[in-house]
Amino acid sequence: MKHLLKMLDLSTEEIIDLLNLADQLKYERKHNIPHPHLQGKTLGMIFQKASTRTRVSFETGMVQLGGYPLFLSSNDLQIGRGEPVQDTARVLSRYLDGIMIRTFAQQEVEDLAKYGSIPIINGLTDFCHPCQVLADLMTIREYKGSFQGLKMCYIGDGNNMANSLIVGGLKVGMKVSIACPDAYQPDEKVLAFARENGGFTMTNSPITAAAGADVIFTDVWASMGQEGEAEQRKIAFDGYQVNDTLLAAANPECMVQHCLPAHRGEEITAEVFEAHAKEIFDEAENRLHAQKAVMVKVMG
Ligand code: CP
Ligand code: NVA
Repeated sequence: MKHLLKMLDLSTEEIIDLLNLADQLKYERKHNIPHPHLQGKTLGMIFQKASTRTRVSFETGMVQLGGYPLFLSSNDLQIGRGEPVQDTARVLSRYLDGIMIRTFAQQEVEDLAKYGSIPIINGLTDFCHPCQVLADLMTIREYKGSFQGLKMCYIGDGNNMANSLIVGGLKVGMKVSIACPDAYQPDEKVLAFARENGGFTMTNSPITAAAGADVIFTDVWASMGQEGEAEQRKIAFDGYQVNDTLLAAANPECMVQHCLPAHRGEEITAEVFEAHAKEIFDEAENRLHAQKAVMVKVMG
């Protein structure tokens, strides 16, 4: 595995390998067993959007692996003033051992990988959020033991989270159902993969999608960069909420996951959020372990 650009690029074996390594790194950290796999290596972290979890988990994760993380805000880089990504990629490849980037266009991440000569990790684009979904899969396996026979459900915007969850869920063998408004469906490439793969359903009805689910995901109605559409989206997503009525349609032991940040009263009720807080914050913790696994695989 050279880069982590999107879930579509990973084989099932690569995903399971990453999850196994993440479990091992989590175990070692809990037992104070050092794991300096990236001693002397430097990771550049380019952020063109805000972040709490991604920034802090990559930064501390790199330190725990013996490496050095460099926070690079696009406000300070020449990339923010229009220096082409092709040039940025070739320059940074001379200094760093890897780059994590959070940005808008997926093409920018693909171009960094194409023009640079070091590993590139996607820390979220408008198209996908593979690091988050690896942590999500890790959490599901931790709680359920395996993916065998499980149904994953996603309610809401067909955004970066939906795109990555559909691909990741299907690749590890879960059934995946999604409920979203017609105007907010997932990316066509993802839908093409899902239709070809089988085990996938898409509907307008949250209750139908949630029937018999073992894990329910949701995400914000307006993602970063879509703040101007917030009011229009509140109308479009009315009813696409994870609440007690929805959970009553799911399996009794159904987990609830949210990548965070969450908007209580919009995509999820405060009651459901708090009732499932342990699972949700375990999911947030697992960002650290899953990303350390990614860094070790691509930079080790
Ligand atoms: N889930 C997630 O990526 O969170 P941040 O935006 O805080 O990094
Ligand atoms: N869909 C959200 C995820 C945040 C982690 C966004 O892109 O803002």
